[in-house]
Amino acid sequence: MSRTMLSKFNGPHPPAPLPDRQAGSPKGEGEKIVACWRSPSNIALVKYWGKKEGQLPLNPSISMTLDQSYTVTRVETELAPESCGRIISVNGDIQHPFVPKMETLLKWLVQEIPVLGNFTFRVETSNSFPHSTGIASSASGISAFALCLLNIAGKVTKKKIPLMEFLTMASFASRMGSGSACRSLFGGYTVWGKTPCVPGSSDLFAIPVTDRVHPSLRTLHDAILMVSSTPKSLPSSQGHTLMVNHPFTPARIRQAGNNLSELLKALTMGDFDRLAELAEYEAMTLHALIMSSQGGMILMEPNTIQIVKKIQAVRQRGLAVFFTLDAGPNVHLLYPESAVSVVGTFIREELLSLCENGSIIYDYCGTGPIQNKTETQ
Ligand code: PMV
Repeated sequence: MSRTMLSKFNGPHPPAPLPDRQAGSPKGEGEKIVACWRSPSNIALVKYWGKKEGQLPLNPSISMTLDQSYTVTRVETELAPESCGRIISVNGDIQHPFVPKMETLLKWLVQEIPVLGNFTFRVETSNSFPHSTGIASSASGISAFALCLLNIAGKVTKKKIPLMEFLTMASFASRMGSGSACRSLFGGYTVWGKTPCVPGSSDLFAIPVTDRVHPSLRTLHDAILMVSSTPKSLPSSQGHTLMVNHPFTPARIRQAGNNLSELLKALTMGDFDRLAELAEYEAMTLHALIMSSQGGMILMEPNTIQIVKKIQAVRQRGLAVFFTLDAGPNVHLLYPESAVSVVGTFIREELLSLCENGSIIYDYCGTGPIQNKTETQ
């Protein structure tokens, strides 16, 4: 299956070196090919936790694509046939923390699209959100990188791939760098992992499901409450392995499938209360699984718990809000467009003081990646 998905790039195409070397350029130096993409982060409402060989998820997940939390990545190639597809630098630094995940993705992609092995890659990348805020930047960073690499593959092979197919290929490729990144390729809501309630769903790539979502939930807001900017004590690559011998794994797989089916129903019906109940259940379950793993860890901080309690209390009093958590202490506060003003007051009066340096990122449901064409022309 993996071979067939990207095989379009491997048909007959003009022979390397590509493109033509510039007259007079030093030996081995060719014209540069540039690709630049902006790709958003996403927040899972049903969590992906635990994986099988081949970067396949133990359970299906669903996420909402964000808008304001994104990565802009520009990749520039140099012709270097002996290089076998190597990253020269990320922001001028070969020690950049993203290099290992990017290398994993690139190595795998070179096997799938061998023509990429003719180049070295210089990467410039920046996040819209401040560095070291504890927000998972791998979803936006890896998806932006995958888009750039496939864009370059398209330019080299002169293959024009229809947009939806291109984004699905990018989802398929992103998965190899970071599982959750494969959900960042489409706007609105996205499902990754085979599940009977979503025809066409796959463990290999994510698919958009926004057309099944009630209009009132397509404009959901997400205020990311920064409790701590300390880098994660449990990197997710390590976190997923905790599920290998976890005694609750079979139950978790069943539970996630049921939660996804129920949550999708709530999204379709526009049932905010049911959505809130299921998303919080998922967030609590993720942390319960982490705490009940061998050598269990507490990733919430005291202020995380305070915020969660305040959100649940204010919902009891009728405010349309709910929370979700990633594998870390920061809280995502979700609310509908209609509640923006009143939730703003709630945040300022009750939550702001619990955030590190009053740090909050105001985000909302976004439309997916954008190509920066001016950069590449
Ligand atoms: O994509 P990874 O390997 O960083 O794992 C992400 C795991 C969670 O963020 C905890 C859940 C999810 O589905 O995004």
